[in-house]
Amino acid sequence: MNLEELDKKYIWHPYTQMRDALLSKIRVIERAEGFYLIDSEGNRYIDGVASMWCNVWGHGKREIIDAIKEEIDRLQHSSLFGLSNDKAIILAEKLCKLTYMDKVFYSGDGSSAVEVALKMALQYWINNKEKRKKVISLKNGYHGDTIGTMSIGYIEDFFSNYKQLLFDVKQITPPYIHRRVEMSDEDYINHCIDVIERELKDEPICLIMESGAQVAGGALIYPKGYQSRVSKLCREYDTLFILDEIATGFGRLGNMIEFIAQDSRPDIVTFGKMLTAGYLPLAATLTTEKIFNAFLGEYHEHKQLYHGHTFTGNPLACVAALSNLDLYEKYNLIEDVRRKERIIASRLEEFKSDIIEEIRHKGMMIGIQLKNIRVGKAINYLIMEEGFKRGAYIRPLGNVMMLMPPLSIDDCVLEKLLDIAYNIIRDIEKEV
Ligand SMILES: Cc1ncc(COP(=O)(O)O)c(C=O)c1O
Repeated sequence: MNLEELDKKYIWHPYTQMRDALLSKIRVIERAEGFYLIDSEGNRYIDGVASMWCNVWGHGKREIIDAIKEEIDRLQHSSLFGLSNDKAIILAEKLCKLTYMDKVFYSGDGSSAVEVALKMALQYWINNKEKRKKVISLKNGYHGDTIGTMSIGYIEDFFSNYKQLLFDVKQITPPYIHRRVEMSDEDYINHCIDVIERELKDEPICLIMESGAQVAGGALIYPKGYQSRVSKLCREYDTLFILDEIATGFGRLGNMIEFIAQDSRPDIVTFGKMLTAGYLPLAATLTTEKIFNAFLGEYHEHKQLYHGHTFTGNPLACVAALSNLDLYEKYNLIEDVRRKERIIASRLEEFKSDIIEEIRHKGMMIGIQLKNIRVGKAINYLIMEEGFKRGAYIRPLGNVMMLMPPLSIDDCVLEKLLDIAYNIIRDIEKEV
């Protein structure tokens, strides 16, 4: 059997209707060079979604690989259960200095980091002998696929099958500038803030939202000042404010730490994805001294956080993160993202089309929302297939064509990716 046949025999792919997948071609990636993925037939594809939004430097960045190689000869894994390791410690210090937070709890993926945040928030009140029940989140937010994260980022189409396992969450409408309500932007934002304020009066456990934008929700960017106002309200009403910066932290929207740029202050914040430049799995939940102190007590009081993962603080992943974060400074990456943001903005001007509903763009995140048009296949499959044919890996979210390239993508590869996206849209336009 060749690799494609073996894949069809053994692999169950995420978010995929496998009946269709079994009948379609699957590209088996064997290696990667810079911003290109290369399949077993030698075809090259621009990594247009940064391997699910996590790749920073392209593939094969020498400094990060060398750092991992050096560490793997020294220590492959040792746990944080009753022990520590130097790389986990140095990384924790670095993360706290970057964010002005105080404590770091490590996990292996974004969903787990959000679960940790929820458990911390709930137990914070229990340890303080306060009874609180309600959790608030934003509609259209996404925080992962585990039971807790599905509860807060509940989307009927995706998660209704699992509903009996989920807990109750109050989901509030977020303030899109891109909306169809007859109100000025300012009035609409004020209205959304008023709704939050009403909910905060019930003394909820926490309010959780993505930082800067709802990414998986279709690249929906918060209006200026919104996140900051929510942050201040949570403080005023003494509710824990949790920010999920898994998709937006470390430069995706043109800021190293998005919540700082948004003038907001979380009690708990989660990071993942680009933390290790997309080279190894690692996520982190950061919190403040105030939350941490509520977990101190006698052993028999059971105030400790009952949570831990086998690979928590894995030294290889931590060393990858340390090397990655050093490179941001060395190459002045955030400035480069801001420069490319301007290139993208001017290129997107050309994209106007009758089949486009709206284009949303910030930093290195582009969401091109197509109108509800009828094409032979589901539009997301069509775009992905057309992308492959033209030499790019583009995985849309429904009818939103997402372009989320590695942050350091070369200008010429970026231009090529935009050309491919442009040509796909022009071809679909001809079909409808
Ligand atoms: C904002 C946000 N939070 C959490 C997650 C879940 O992360 P993971 O897929 O690593 O579990 C994602 C994944 O896309 C995300 O975008």
